[in-house]
Amino acid sequence: MIFIDLRDRYGVTQTVVDPTNAAALKEAEKVRNEYVVFMRGSVRARPSGMTNSKLPTGEIELYVEQCEILSESKPLPFPIEDGSEVSETLRLKYRYLDLRRPSLQNNLITRHRVGQLVRNYLDENGFLEIETPILYKSTPEGARDFVVPSRVNPGTFYALPQSPQTLKQLLMVAGYDRYYQIARCFRDEDLRADRQPEFTQIDIEMSFIDQEVLFPIFEGMMKLLFKKILDKDIPTPFARMKYADAMRDYGVDKPDVRFDLKLKDLTSVLSSVDFNVFKQTIQAGGIMKGLPVPGAADKVSRKDLDEYTKYVSTYGAKGLLWFKFGADGVSGPATKFFKPNELENLKQACGLSTGDLLFVVADQERVANDALGSLRLQVGEKLGLIDKTKFNFLWVTDFPLLQFEPSDGRWYACHHPFTSPVMEDVAKLESGKDLGTIRAAAYDLVLNGVEVAGGSLRIFNQRTQAAMFRALGLSEKEAQEKFGFFIEGLQYGTPPHGGIAFGMDRLTMILTGTDAIREVIAFPKTQKGACLMSESPSSITPEQLAELHIGLRLPQKAEKH
Ligand code: AMO
Ligand code: AMP
Repeated sequence: MIFIDLRDRYGVTQTVVDPTNAAALKEAEKVRNEYVVFMRGSVRARPSGMTNSKLPTGEIELYVEQCEILSESKPLPFPIEDGSEVSETLRLKYRYLDLRRPSLQNNLITRHRVGQLVRNYLDENGFLEIETPILYKSTPEGARDFVVPSRVNPGTFYALPQSPQTLKQLLMVAGYDRYYQIARCFRDEDLRADRQPEFTQIDIEMSFIDQEVLFPIFEGMMKLLFKKILDKDIPTPFARMKYADAMRDYGVDKPDVRFDLKLKDLTSVLSSVDFNVFKQTIQAGGIMKGLPVPGAADKVSRKDLDEYTKYVSTYGAKGLLWFKFGADGVSGPATKFFKPNELENLKQACGLSTGDLLFVVADQERVANDALGSLRLQVGEKLGLIDKTKFNFLWVTDFPLLQFEPSDGRWYACHHPFTSPVMEDVAKLESGKDLGTIRAAAYDLVLNGVEVAGGSLRIFNQRTQAAMFRALGLSEKEAQEKFGFFIEGLQYGTPPHGGIAFGMDRLTMILTGTDAIREVIAFPKTQKGACLMSESPSSITPEQLAELHIGLRLPQKAEKH
């Protein structure tokens, strides 16, 4: 008897070839892993004692009458089964084999379903799917552009869109009041676990709306996805939090609100303590911020504390203080600088009691927030505070419109230069005063600490747009050069409009419970932006370069190819 497990997209079925069937047996003997075979026969119940309750098809088998090999396979570079340890480099080189694994197959099926559900939902809500060009012009999302040389227009380049932002706004000018597209976006930026150089957005724009119209539509879309894909009932409306409150309480603009720990500003409580680190920080205009962790004094070891200190240093923190409030007093590297009442004040200010732990970072506000905001997640994970069955959506609103960059002495748009200030702050922008305090009509949708979508209401009148360019230090001429066609377009009757874009890859990551964006993309790129399977990017021939009128000037090391 020969038993062959036959796999296709729908699962595995056991087949059995009986020795009495000489022709079939001869062919079946030649079958190896991953061969493609044709088999004909009858499906029958497996003999008693031979069933396999772990397989959906474990009760039956195919009793083979005819067997034919259609295609052979070379020996495999790695086993196809889920769970076998294989380096990611090898998996990406042989991605088509990797994609045969059930886990990846499930991820791609889920991704497909997300696309289908979204398309239907948006169609039912009156949105039109409209494609926009890939060979285009620089768009204002703040990353570097990927560029493509034009052969027929020597010396000129297309930029691949970082998003269809200007195009979708022009579609509003054109009167298509509800647009969507499942759009590929291209950004040349440093890659991370949840970033790819090309990724997919569910991109949306609408006319005559405000947040109160837009939010419920997309809450409904999320509710539908989580019900249909995970059978989870997501309560709506979603919670909302202002950016300033998120930064104050969580140190980040995308708080994971599945667990309760909150940061606390301790600058005033600690300013009287005779400790150099605090004094210097205050002198330099910094703050002291704390992360109180109730009940953790005995759960965190010296080794953990050393690791946390190293961890926060990657966010630029110069150190990490900790205070353990034990039954026999407070311990920690800085307690010797504290008077007893100062320790008591600290404990009171944080609402802590015996058995609790407190971390403190003294630094510029941005560093302290970054460090403790990230440490909060580490500690939450380590102490098992995060309920992984929860899906906590949160709208983060009232972002600042502009951010000052001291290193080059100018203001930048936090979102993009077409984002409108909130109505109450328009006058401030137009007067050019208090730029740092202007709030944007921008919002992010955060899910379990991941930014799954971002959007805004847009500027739709000339005066405000001109004020925005002024604030960004763009002269009329520069603005014309960069966005001339767009500014021109806005002058022919622009409806008030706004939109949002969902990171489809990130959303699918969460829906499939994976933590790397590569696991939900059929043919992803590595951290260095390479496709290991096709070995792209790669050099092109001298003839191709000549046709494009391009000469190369390579850095020394990379010259050989
Ligand atoms: P934004 O730049 O916030 O907004 O992008 C929207 C969403 O896209 C996802 N995303 C990414 N996913 C994977 N890899 C990347 N490199 C990457 N970059 C962004 C995130 C993010 O929330 N045009 C505006 C939207 C608008 O204003 O309507 C835009 O692109 O999930
Ligand atoms: P030092 O004086 O540099 O030896 O630091 C004494 C202690 O203070 C060490 O535990 C450091 O981790 C901590 N520390 C130093 N700088 C900071 C800072 N900016 N914020 C928090 N802790 C700090």
